[in-house]
Amino acid sequence: MKKIIIAIDGHSSCGKSTLAKALAKTLHYAYLDSGAMYRAVTLYFLNTGADYHDGAQVEEALRHISIHFERVDGHNHTFLNDVDVERDIREMRVSEHVSPVAAISAVRRAMVKQQQAMGKRRGIVADGRDIGTVVFPDAELKIFLTADSDVRASRRHLELAAKGIDASWDDILRNLEERDHIDSTREDSPLKKADDAVVIDNTLLSEEEQHARALGLARGRIAEINEA
Ligand code: CDP
Repeated sequence: MKKIIIAIDGHSSCGKSTLAKALAKTLHYAYLDSGAMYRAVTLYFLNTGADYHDGAQVEEALRHISIHFERVDGHNHTFLNDVDVERDIREMRVSEHVSPVAAISAVRRAMVKQQQAMGKRRGIVADGRDIGTVVFPDAELKIFLTADSDVRASRRHLELAAKGIDASWDDILRNLEERDHIDSTREDSPLKKADDAVVIDNTLLSEEEQHARALGLARGRIAEINEA
């Protein structure tokens, strides 16, 4: 049975990772959280005090950054230089800096290279901003997710509270809108819908409805690829 690549792109906190994880689980595919990689790079800058506005310091930092994923208690955890940073990368201080860091071409080149290596054997669901446009332009299924920003802020507020991370709803909303703006207007790999992506607005959809819709699309593509 041939496997496919599923690319899920979209705005900040619109449920991409929830959908990607659920699809990966149902299809027995790998899950790639590309945003976690940009968050880990950002955490490195914040923790070391290196200046990401300085090209030489960025190049030097990238030589010392190694990111990998591991399953911990059944969940996907992000490791930065062999330290589990899954909780730290979700903090607001990282969210406040991640979009400027992710706009740096040298950072993107390094991350995209690693992401493409992870998709070599297909059988992967990846979520991010440029997955269907840059990382895997040949993905067999591309989904562009979106939702109203108020709903997205409320979902993120709940998600952070569940992790014990304190952040105000207003700060979350402001951060989401700011990141959407930076991510969509940057020069290198801006967030945009791939021409061949299917749009799903999940403002009024439950997780189950969203999963069912995407799974239907995925099964359809897998059948087509295997019949060909
Ligand atoms: O989960 P949330 O929507 O908050 O964002 P994320 O997927 O964790 O991504 C964090 C940030 O990383 C985004 O706001 C983008 O600036 C950047 N990113 C990117 O540039 N390209 C990707 N493929 C994924 C994330």
